[in-house]
Amino acid sequence: MEKVIKIEGGHHLNGTVRISGSKNATVALIPACVLGNEPVTIYGVPNISDVQSLIVLLNELGVCVEKRDEETLYIDPTHMENIPMVSKAVSKLRASYYFMGALLGKFGHAEIKMPGGCYLGPRPIDLHLKGFEALGADIQYENGCYILDAKELKGTNIFLDISSVGATINIMMAAVYAKGRTVIENAAREPEIIDIATLLNKMGARIHGMGTSTLVIDGVDYLKGCIHEIIPDRIEAATYVIMAAAMANDMRIENIIPQHLEAIVMKLQEVGINMEVGSDFIHVFKSDKPLKRTEILTKPYPGFATDVQQPFTVLLTQCEGQSVVTETIYTERFKHCAELNKMGANIDVHTPSAFINGKTKLHGSKVTATDLRCGAGLVIAALMADGVTEIHDIYHIDRGYDNLDGKLAHLGAKMWREEVED
Ligand code: EPU
Repeated sequence: MEKVIKIEGGHHLNGTVRISGSKNATVALIPACVLGNEPVTIYGVPNISDVQSLIVLLNELGVCVEKRDEETLYIDPTHMENIPMVSKAVSKLRASYYFMGALLGKFGHAEIKMPGGCYLGPRPIDLHLKGFEALGADIQYENGCYILDAKELKGTNIFLDISSVGATINIMMAAVYAKGRTVIENAAREPEIIDIATLLNKMGARIHGMGTSTLVIDGVDYLKGCIHEIIPDRIEAATYVIMAAAMANDMRIENIIPQHLEAIVMKLQEVGINMEVGSDFIHVFKSDKPLKRTEILTKPYPGFATDVQQPFTVLLTQCEGQSVVTETIYTERFKHCAELNKMGANIDVHTPSAFINGKTKLHGSKVTATDLRCGAGLVIAALMADGVTEIHDIYHIDRGYDNLDGKLAHLGAKMWREEVED
């Protein structure tokens, strides 16, 4: 038996939804906490399965983790042990690779299996490894496991060929205890990186240049405990804003940082969505005007986020004419298009672009969440479709969306989970 999500489409959404803490910040903040020698308390932790997997990993390392309330984690690494990380939980998420930087930085040794995560085409980690080597680590790969060793890490200049989010965070974590100064050039500028650097600085690290493409890290000897609140999830926020654009009469998305959503808001305004952007909210109102086609090019922050192109594609099926989405980060991130076509969309994919021919009526169908943001897109499509949509492989969705069922029910959607034959 398999649990699926079923959604009866056609019900308008109304009311307010509160955005949770950022998944992609959380999954790096949790490994960052073990760099320290004292307890850290994090507020705004989303209730998602990626966090549960990270808690399993922390427990395996002997880190004491307490859930103080729904959104608060207390992480005490005082008695942690640096054991090889080879359990099943490592392969459940991509972010387990942040323990490479954290353990290498703290102990000069890390042993860890290949990470898991969504398949979006090839996802190499060569830039992470090159960064660790530049800091002085020796890296071996044996039986599916990376073994990283360093007698001493030394600050150096590192230029990233691609401004990778993961490599920037991982190298930054390894460098906080390195002797001297590390400079990461062409560093990624995503808000999540600023959040991790902010936590590390509260713990006593000396990181400068956050949010710019030059990160400077001056090594320190000791990291202490602190209290930190996670930034709101800009991808979850974008997902709900798109959902509102597709199906709301009047819907307010709260607890957001609008600056993080500028590229997405611009595109929504361009296609004709009627919205008000406030200091920490976006309010979307129904409009009867036809939606206009557009073109989207995914880019690193502050450009249009690759994670949002999948949900946005669903909205483009409702725009008049041919829209084009070109993916520059993960050129194969188009598996959602085949699923949307099963629901009546008319999308041609010629990598690295998808051509969305609108406007098309969507109808309920059996579809599969091939990855997390594909799943989010299918939920939006199902809300719009005639009839009932059945979404399979929903574990992808549960990896990244906090309380999706509760939030949607509150907005007036008809969604439930059901066991079906495999
Ligand atoms: N890349 C390399 N070598 C590397 C690292 C990256 O070639 O060593 C390439 C990637 O293949 C990709 C590009 O560089 O083409 C950018 O990848 P990046 O490293 O920035 O991605 P990531 O750190 O693996 C994070 C998010 C993704 C998000 C991307 C891009 C987390 C846990 N994941 O991945 O989020 O799509 O940045 O913004 O933070 C999601 O939330 O659904 C998701 C997949």
